[in-house]
Amino acid sequence: MKDPSAPCPAGESGAAACPHAGAGFDHARRWDAAEAAAFSKRGDPGAPPLGLADACRMAWREAVRCIGRLHWRSLQVVDARSLEDADSVYDACIGHLRGATRDGRIVPMQTVFAPWRGPEGGIRIWNHQLLRYAGYRSPDGSVLGDPQNVDFTRLVRSLGWSPPAVPGSFDLLPLVIQAGGKLVVRELPREVVLEVRLAHPDYPWFEKLGLRWHAVPAISDMMLVTGDEVFPCAPFNGWYMGTEIGARNLGDAGRYNLLPEVAEKLGLDRVRDRLWKDRALLVINEAVLHSFERDGVKVVDHHQASREFLTHCDREHEAGREVQAEWSWIVPPVSASATGVFHRLYPLRPRLPNLLLQVEAWNTREGAGLLKRFANR
Ligand code: ARG
Repeated sequence: MKDPSAPCPAGESGAAACPHAGAGFDHARRWDAAEAAAFSKRGDPGAPPLGLADACRMAWREAVRCIGRLHWRSLQVVDARSLEDADSVYDACIGHLRGATRDGRIVPMQTVFAPWRGPEGGIRIWNHQLLRYAGYRSPDGSVLGDPQNVDFTRLVRSLGWSPPAVPGSFDLLPLVIQAGGKLVVRELPREVVLEVRLAHPDYPWFEKLGLRWHAVPAISDMMLVTGDEVFPCAPFNGWYMGTEIGARNLGDAGRYNLLPEVAEKLGLDRVRDRLWKDRALLVINEAVLHSFERDGVKVVDHHQASREFLTHCDREHEAGREVQAEWSWIVPPVSASATGVFHRLYPLRPRLPNLLLQVEAWNTREGAGLLKRFANR
């Protein structure tokens, strides 16, 4: 494979001339807030601090794994920095979902809670996303629901959450919020969660598989690092690219693993049809795009997303910046070489502001303490 870290042939000058602080840091590891705060000193100490909305928009613009960055200027930012207790954080998350969903006309949005001030009293949302489906492991090792969330589901159960009387494949997990030295578990109100039932335009049986997905991808466990401050709780969302659901969430063997079942329904011979997985993938992805469109829920296909990303690269180049990107994340998981983003390389020297992975909340000292105090009561 191509070396994704090789410099972009068209943009060798950009990275070196980067005016941002901390250029080239390791974006792939999980940061600890204290460490990020120490590291997050901007290049030019005389520069006035960025406004919050600008910092958030720039962080999106610099997010090396995101193909959707053309739209960075449209990010709506909610300033929730003054909120302190878990109840108001919960309310703000609900407000975020309402504001972002808009009946399917998804609005890219970020809600920013108080900055990191020290090892105690920090605000964190423990969920990976505001909306996620539970995963239950049976004694025989099989999983009902989303295998990715099995450990987290076990954790929320230890905090007192009970699954529905009849557990299903798409049970929404409650929010787990850490604030003001407390840890609270709160169910999401049904009416703020828009979901799309999946059907296929040509295959009536598809609907009967009972598949669905939530309309809004809202990452809630990443850290916003502006260069002046660190925000361990700053959930954000865009809209989905169809393949995230149709190829990865539903298709991955370690996720819903639906390729064998769909191939079966399509009447494919899994021994002789060597491309049965490819056919099944295509059908699931058609169903996702079709169903989102049917319900008026914004979604982008990977071909359009690829074109938009290349437009973004051009615009950034004109603005004197070279887009930093992680090739293996930008290139779509299906039909890769049929998209333009496949056929070039990108420099990868991430810069601030940015959105970084952080140590899981329950693995921080404060989080581990809270878990002990609040679990199994
Ligand atoms: N891939 C993740 C998911 O399927 C979401 C990541 C963010 N995606 C986005 N379109 N903003 O849930």
